[in-house]
Amino acid sequence: MSIRWKLVLAFNVFLAALAILGYFTYSQLDRSKEISERVGSRSIARVEDAAHLAEEFGRLRSLGLAFVLESDPLEREERRDQLTASLDGIDTHIAGYEQTFTEESAPEGLFQFKEEYRAYLTAQDGMLALADEGRGQEALALYGASSGDFQALTDIAHTLRHSAFEDAEAATDEAGSLINRTQYMIIGGLLAAALLIFAIGHPSSIYINNRLRALLEGTKRVSRGELEQPVGVTGRDEFGALAEAFDAMVVSLRSAREELTTLHSEAMGMQEERIGLLQDQVTKVVKAQEEERQRVSRELHDQAGQALTALQLGLSRIEAAGPTPEMREEAASLRQLALEAMHIIRNLALDLRPSALDELGLPAALKDYVQTFASRTGIEARLEVSGKKRRLPAEAEVTLFRILQEGLTNVAKHSRANVVLVTLAFEDSHVSLAIEDDGVGFDADRALGAEQRKSLGLIGMRERSHLLGGELHIGSRPSEGTKLVMTVPLGAQEPVPWEEEPLAAS
Ligand SMILES: Nc1ncnc2c1ncn2[C@@H]1O[C@H](COP(=O)(O)OP(=O)(O)OP(=O)(O)O)[C@@H](O)[C@H]1O
Ligand SMILES: [Mg+2]
Repeated sequence: MSIRWKLVLAFNVFLAALAILGYFTYSQLDRSKEISERVGSRSIARVEDAAHLAEEFGRLRSLGLAFVLESDPLEREERRDQLTASLDGIDTHIAGYEQTFTEESAPEGLFQFKEEYRAYLTAQDGMLALADEGRGQEALALYGASSGDFQALTDIAHTLRHSAFEDAEAATDEAGSLINRTQYMIIGGLLAAALLIFAIGHPSSIYINNRLRALLEGTKRVSRGELEQPVGVTGRDEFGALAEAFDAMVVSLRSAREELTTLHSEAMGMQEERIGLLQDQVTKVVKAQEEERQRVSRELHDQAGQALTALQLGLSRIEAAGPTPEMREEAASLRQLALEAMHIIRNLALDLRPSALDELGLPAALKDYVQTFASRTGIEARLEVSGKKRRLPAEAEVTLFRILQEGLTNVAKHSRANVVLVTLAFEDSHVSLAIEDDGVGFDADRALGAEQRKSLGLIGMRERSHLLGGELHIGSRPSEGTKLVMTVPLGAQEPVPWEEEPLAAS
């Protein structure tokens, strides 16, 4: 049953209990009202009538005596009137007393009183007649003889009064006990209603509380990201329906999360694959570049260099033994040109593939290049080498050399520097090369940003560093110079030597 209907039922049960209680209270109060009315309208009237009856009867007796003893005829007539009035009073009280018994039978004492009263009146009439005839002594004797009747009538009147009084008392007691009973009933009824409310309300509140708590725990679990456990509230009420909807939501959340995790790991896998492919690509390009540079360098050295040497030798022969002075002079200037061309070719070959690198190692090759750079550009440049010098894997040496080339070319092209310091540091676990100038500086993040991709120098340096598992750090700010540091790890991360790789297609 739904919570709403349970609450409606409980409320109606409570209302019904209150209505029953109200009905009983009303009927009890109605009854006590009736009794009170009875006490007011009947019993008290009876008590009063009976009391007046006794009193009036006493007066009647005294008036009778006064009549007998009165000798003055006028006074006697007055006494007679008084007697008549007293008799009327007695009749009125008897009638009044009798009238209160319309619904119940009148007591035996009333009939007795009426009978005795009639007998007494007969005796009194005789007494009055004797007195009227002037037979006072006989009238007095009759008066004396009726004293027993008088006493009996007075007793009956007292008894009637007493029983009327007892009736009133009993009715009052009954009304009192009714009111008491009503009081207990109201208190008992209210207690019962309170117990009823408690009996229905307490288990209901525990039930509602438990279900709310379970729902709350469920929502807390979901907010913590725990989607495995259902809320655990069942049933056909509102909470059951809510829990069912909530569990369905958690299930769809769980499946959405699983889907997302799968998609994410797939995406990660794809990204890693892509990065791997790109790195392979870059490696191949860089290796191919190196091979090509080496080949061109060799060609220049072997062919152009030898041809120029042969040319220079031929020209020096003409210079020495030419037929005319003009021809000798021309041969000398041509030999000078051939020398310059050899010099240019030598520099070009050095740039393409420094022979010093293969023959003398990295520090000597760097020194040679730094000196040539200084003399070529006029910028003060020097190399400092620290740590224990040693040969590095060929690809590391070539990479460091290329970094120096690109770094110094950038200094010449962009920095407007006066001084540039190159530092090569051999550490146990790595080698680092730093190029520091005092030029205009630049915004490195912007220079490496996507929109700057048309410039390849810095990006190429970084790629080359990554290929060796190393790092390139560019420290520069506008007008604060530039410091470029490349670190190459040694040992476990040593890359595969160039020779083992197949030649890249060019
Ligand atoms: N030492 C430096 N001093 C000041 N600016 C520099 C320095 N090195 C690089 N830059 C700035 O960084 C930019 C990017 O350099 P990068 O070497 O990538 O490209 P580039 O030298 O312009 O062209 P290229 O592709 O021929 O090398 C340069 O255009 C320059 O503005
Ligand atoms: Mg550059």
